[in-house]
Amino acid sequence: MGRLDGKVIVLTAAAQGIGRAAALAFAKEGAKVIATDINEAQLRELEDCPGIQTRILDVTKKEQIEEFSKEVERLDVLFNVAGFVHHGTILECEEKDWDFSMNLNIRSMYLMIKVFLPKMLAQKSGNIINMSSVASSIKGVVNRCVYSTSKAAVIGLTKSVAADFIHQGIRCNCVCPGTVDTPSLRDRIQARPNPEQALSDFLARQKTGRMATAEEVALLCVYLASDESAYVTGNEMIIDGGWSL
Ligand SMILES: NC(=O)c1ccc[n+]([C@@H]2O[C@H](COP(=O)([O-])OP(=O)(O)OC[C@H]3O[C@@H](n4cnc5c(N)ncnc54)[C@H](O)[C@@H]3O)[C@@H](O)[C@H]2O)c1
Repeated sequence: MGRLDGKVIVLTAAAQGIGRAAALAFAKEGAKVIATDINEAQLRELEDCPGIQTRILDVTKKEQIEEFSKEVERLDVLFNVAGFVHHGTILECEEKDWDFSMNLNIRSMYLMIKVFLPKMLAQKSGNIINMSSVASSIKGVVNRCVYSTSKAAVIGLTKSVAADFIHQGIRCNCVCPGTVDTPSLRDRIQARPNPEQALSDFLARQKTGRMATAEEVALLCVYLASDESAYVTGNEMIIDGGWSL
């Protein structure tokens, strides 16, 4: 018996990194997973996995989200994963960078929840998980100005939805990882002037001496998606190897 048997889970940004690991972990535990992303080629790699169906979805596009929602009859869990890391202080963050990150990291969650929450309310049950970060209201992190601002907003959105709909059978939590070894993190390291130094800087800030794996974060997501966490709502679930200590 799987921990997520019979649950329908919609998730965003499932083509790589934490989203991909979560899609695979959810399916392994018996969920029916609808994995979405804009990266068609990488999303296609998930198609042969039992329990996973894929769907192209740009979470910044309201019309696409509305169209997609018409195809989803019912859902138990909505997992909003999509996000982008801008590198820099406020002085290096141009308005276009600010708008891009706020649009992808937080406005997309507003759009997704606004469209899918009414379905959950009609079912009188629903579970929303949002991807935040330790770089947020939890910890000040250098060169993460707009990223941390947007991820702090994710925590605010999470608590607000949890408080507003707790009596209607809805729970809402967010996941706050520290540094996770994902393709985009590797890309960010490669983009630094001295990638070797950047990697050792990332590792030096880990109290465990290593980064988290996407699979470790996915296991926390399985717990949050399952009924094992039925009494958990409105929480920011930190998984950072002690980084925020
Ligand atoms: N990697 C980390 O260290 C880390 C730490 C804390 C939080 N997070 C958060 O976890 C989430 C996933 O990060 P990751 O590093 O695992 O993934 P990633 O950055 O490697 O992959 C992101 C995915 O999002 C997709 N995407 C980009 N724009 C999109 C859009 N408009 N619509 C739909 N999909 C889109 C990409 O195609 C890609 O598949 C992000 O919200 C990130 O901020 C990551």
